[in-house]
Amino acid sequence: MRALVCRAFGPLDDLKVGDLPDPAIAPGHVIVDVAAAGLNFPDVLCVQGLYQFKPETPFAPGQEGAGVVAEVGDGVTHLKPGDRVAFVQLSGAIAEKALVPANMCIPVPDGMDLTTAAAFSMAYGTSFYALKQRAGLRAGETLLVLGAAGGVGLAAVELGKAMGATVIAAASSAEKLKACVAAGADHGINYADEDLKARAKELTGGAGVNVVYDPVGGPYSEPALRSLAWEGRHLVVGFAAGEIPKIPLNLTLLKSCQIVGVFWGAWTFRDPKAAAANFAELHALFDAGELKPVISETYDLDHAVDGLRALAERRAVGKLVVAVGGA
Ligand SMILES: NC(=O)c1ccc[n+]([C@@H]2O[C@H](COP(=O)([O-])OP(=O)(O)OC[C@H]3O[C@@H](n4cnc5c(N)ncnc54)[C@H](OP(=O)(O)O)[C@@H]3O)[C@@H](O)[C@H]2O)c1
Repeated sequence: MRALVCRAFGPLDDLKVGDLPDPAIAPGHVIVDVAAAGLNFPDVLCVQGLYQFKPETPFAPGQEGAGVVAEVGDGVTHLKPGDRVAFVQLSGAIAEKALVPANMCIPVPDGMDLTTAAAFSMAYGTSFYALKQRAGLRAGETLLVLGAAGGVGLAAVELGKAMGATVIAAASSAEKLKACVAAGADHGINYADEDLKARAKELTGGAGVNVVYDPVGGPYSEPALRSLAWEGRHLVVGFAAGEIPKIPLNLTLLKSCQIVGVFWGAWTFRDPKAAAANFAELHALFDAGELKPVISETYDLDHAVDGLRALAERRAVGKLVVAVGGA
């Protein structure tokens, strides 16, 4: 099969499109003919050997995809060839075929095309778990989203609005903030040239925000935490800026606030029923037109690495997708 191939961990420029052996069916698994793969920041880390899990080389990168079930392994009863599924796993989505554990397949709703499905699960799955299960975001609260025009960030903006919050989007350019407002954000802060804490306080009449959604880390986490209201929650989602901030713990005492870790992938393994229930809710919101995933670029397989470069260079808005063409 054709795939984007990582033969050794290293720079993005080393990735080449080539052939890998077709995966063999295994018990409890399905083989998916992949129509499209959604790109995520962890793919950039993974091929460089910087992600917390390292696949065996050679491998096809890509943590997220969607396509059509081609073959089912022994013991799989709830899926059959022809079913449309999305999936999230550690690697293997940027390839014409993927071997996927059957219990990690997410049925694709009738009204969702496979390109959209490839861009949906990671972003909305992560952000919904963060806002619902980890922050307990309530209607009427204020949510500050950092990296708000990125993949998980833009999903958090939309979900925050759908959950009845006032949403403040923070991003590094006017163009990115425009995308956030189009997705429903009430306010924008350009943290490249505005004081994040001062603006967040100003926009909340001095009270501070109730929840911070933070997939960025680096220099933004501490001012965001300092902008929290009494009993606020700071969601630690990721470190796209590269630096893991060190936070003075006295800040949590002074505001009686919480710093809350979010590891969506591990949670889906530990509590698959709750994860499936979240997807049922997310698909209902999609069907009702409340969630409109933004796919700003679609690449063909030969140009997949351009999408990974856009993520690495902080240029992406919303989601980037590779049209793989296996389905
Ligand atoms: N915890 C979980 O379960 C989970 C699940 C999925 C993803 N994640 C994490 O969430 C983060 C975002 O993932 P994503 O796929 O949404 O990525 P993305 O689309 O690239 O968004 C990341 C955002 O971070 C900001 N950023 C700041 N400094 C950056 C830098 N040096 N390089 C790149 N981006 C930078 C950018 O916004 P501005 O330019 O506006 O600052 C960018 O839009 C990643 O760290 C990822 O590992 C965590």
